[in-house]
Amino acid sequence: MSPRIVVLISGNGSNLQAIIDAINSKTLNGQIVLVVSNKDSAYGLTRATQAEIPTLVFPLKPYKDLGKTRIEYDIDLAKKIKEYNPNLIVLAGWMHILSEEFLNLFKDINIINLHPALPNQFDGADSIKRAYEAFKKGEITKTGVMVHKVIPDVDKGEPLLIEEVSIFETDSLNDLETRIHTVEHRLIVQCVKKILDELNH
Ligand code: GAR
Repeated sequence: MSPRIVVLISGNGSNLQAIIDAINSKTLNGQIVLVVSNKDSAYGLTRATQAEIPTLVFPLKPYKDLGKTRIEYDIDLAKKIKEYNPNLIVLAGWMHILSEEFLNLFKDINIINLHPALPNQFDGADSIKRAYEAFKKGEITKTGVMVHKVIPDVDKGEPLLIEEVSIFETDSLNDLETRIHTVEHRLIVQCVKKILDELNH
């Protein structure tokens, strides 16, 4: 059986699509067994459905409304994911931090996160916009993309792949976003491939 991947998303899902395409073209020897979104409006859910992948919408709000903690949410999410018996969990635009309680339930498998910045730069949301603004102020000359192991701290953890991305004076924010997304789509597939190749041996 090929390795089982669970992908967590919050939005467009273009990186999820890159993984789906790489599986379909046999670049990746694995299967996505579940796509989880914390938002029911995430377009990535449509991409998953089109690829006939099971989806789970798992929003935080009902937990908050009931006065439940973030840890309770994470543990319930982990239990749902465990039912699918994954060998790898990929955070591809998942905009929640996963707590130690979640990570402890998956100690024996890799959990990786894609982040559109270099290590220790622009952690959290809106990273590309923040890098663009920092470039305009002369604070940075380049940005990048990384895939890293997930630890209970936002966008930190051992980097597995890092690639620098140029910023040019003539760039609009949209130009930079497009350049970064192109790198991301390649890098996430490359990193998933590295892990799957190890699992397949
Ligand atoms: C990607 O740029 C990803 O690196 C970023 O969200 C976007 C999701 O795009 N993740 C983070 O900022 C994590 N802090 P997608 O939904 O089209 O794959």
